[in-house]
Amino acid sequence: MKTRIDEDTCIGCGLCTSTAPEVYEMGDSGKAHAIQEVVPEGSESTAQEAADGCPVSAITIDEP
Ligand code: F3S
Repeated sequence: MKTRIDEDTCIGCGLCTSTAPEVYEMGDSGKAHAIQEVVPEGSESTAQEAADGCPVSAITIDEP
């Protein structure tokens, strides 16, 4: 599973970084990004939860 955040769309609400801190982190700009493109094993469900919960749908999840 891969994931990325469209930083132009992200409004910095912080839901993803609190839901899946092992997958997403907040940058200096106040926008979140994926720590690494490939979601760590075992974090797929929290990454999906974050993507589903993002209020502006900035998170993309790609299944392999
Ligand atoms: Fe941004 Fe959505 Fe995360 S607005 S901080 S990508 S939950």
